[in-house]
Amino acid sequence: MANVAVIGAQWGDEGKGKVVDWLASRADMVVRFQGGHNAGHTLVVGDRTFKLSLLPAGVVRGTLSIIGNGVVIDPWALLKEIGIVGEQGVKITPDVLRIAENAALILPVHQRVDRAREEARGARKIGTTGRGIGPAYEDKVARRAIRVCDLAHPEVLDAKLDELLLHHNALLRGLGAEPFAKAEILDPLLEVAPRILPFAEAVWERLDAARRGGKRILFEGAQGIMLDVDHGTYPFVTSSNCVAGMAAVGSGVGPSAVGTVLGICKAYTTRVGSGPFPTELTDAIGERIGDRGREFGTVTGRRRRCGWFDAVMVRQAIKVGGITGIALTKLDVLDGLAELRVCTGYMLDGQELHRLPASPSLQARVSPIYETMPGWSETTSGARTWAALPAAAIKYVRRIEELIECPVTLLSTSPERDDTIMVRDPFAD
Ligand code: IMP
Repeated sequence: MANVAVIGAQWGDEGKGKVVDWLASRADMVVRFQGGHNAGHTLVVGDRTFKLSLLPAGVVRGTLSIIGNGVVIDPWALLKEIGIVGEQGVKITPDVLRIAENAALILPVHQRVDRAREEARGARKIGTTGRGIGPAYEDKVARRAIRVCDLAHPEVLDAKLDELLLHHNALLRGLGAEPFAKAEILDPLLEVAPRILPFAEAVWERLDAARRGGKRILFEGAQGIMLDVDHGTYPFVTSSNCVAGMAAVGSGVGPSAVGTVLGICKAYTTRVGSGPFPTELTDAIGERIGDRGREFGTVTGRRRRCGWFDAVMVRQAIKVGGITGIALTKLDVLDGLAELRVCTGYMLDGQELHRLPASPSLQARVSPIYETMPGWSETTSGARTWAALPAAAIKYVRRIEELIECPVTLLSTSPERDDTIMVRDPFAD
């Protein structure tokens, strides 16, 4: 029986929340392994809509949920989210949520640095979520991060903050921003520690026992491969790896434990923040897709940029990300369009390319080669079988499969959990 990792195959916001929720109901535990509260997963359960940022999607249904060591955790954001979900009737206790004791924390200073740096970049800004993700991962790699386990040791916090602020205050002053006094961070950390520590443990042990006991583990990714710090559109990326390999590193299991890798992608493309986007539509069709798809960021509320499906980019994401099957989402957003375009290659300086070049200046200059396909006038919204789909929609999906060299194993046709066509059970592979 396979474990399943769910990762984004585009620039995030592919609809992972719904797919993870759907799979979580069949898993024994759900593990988040990278990113932080820059992520936004929307789950629609009956008449309730949950907007999760840091909590793994399993918590809503009472499935044991784990925040792995690869995640950067803002303890205040986490407690706030636990509070909001609690008000919606889902009580989060250590019975349902465990946090890796070796995960690094996001502190208020990281957010201030994130925002000050973005401001200083001006027109060259990355368009980060301002949540402090980048600076927190930098501290982790620089070996000065405060981790969950440190919360149990006030003297360690004190000493670590000295080192951390030596670095960040110099940076903040250089950027013309207000530096932090130690007490501004230390006191709130001491206050929050007893509320976070009951959730902390060596999660790798729990995962090892689960694996040996034949339990099903669902690894829940955030963002998407084109935002991966190595394989994405660098520097317009997030600061973690979003590929399936990170599921192992970010939760403390070996690579063979990851199992099936389900890549989520929309039947078109969206992106929030700056950076190259070869198939972007700045016309009425792009606007229509954005309106119909309700393409506004869950975290920041920013309007997402929209464009045609880019098969070159998704094919590349599949190869570098280790994706074995695709869950295609939001097909219904394309209902009613007379014709559809799919990007099958790029032109660059008179040459045809079938990959996205690594250089940002080249990425910004590629122009898409399109294949045009007929659209459909019928609605695909809520379809639960292939037979319920118009022939043109099936053709569109089949052509995408060919171009990306990967099967569509799941098709999502509305935000509702059960409006899903399962071609192949990911847990059965
Ligand atoms: P950061 O992760 O806040 O540093 O932002 C870096 C880039 O990743 C920006 O372009 C963000 O818009 C983008 N980003 C971060 N998290 C998400 C997400 O969950 N969905 C989509 N884009 C994201």
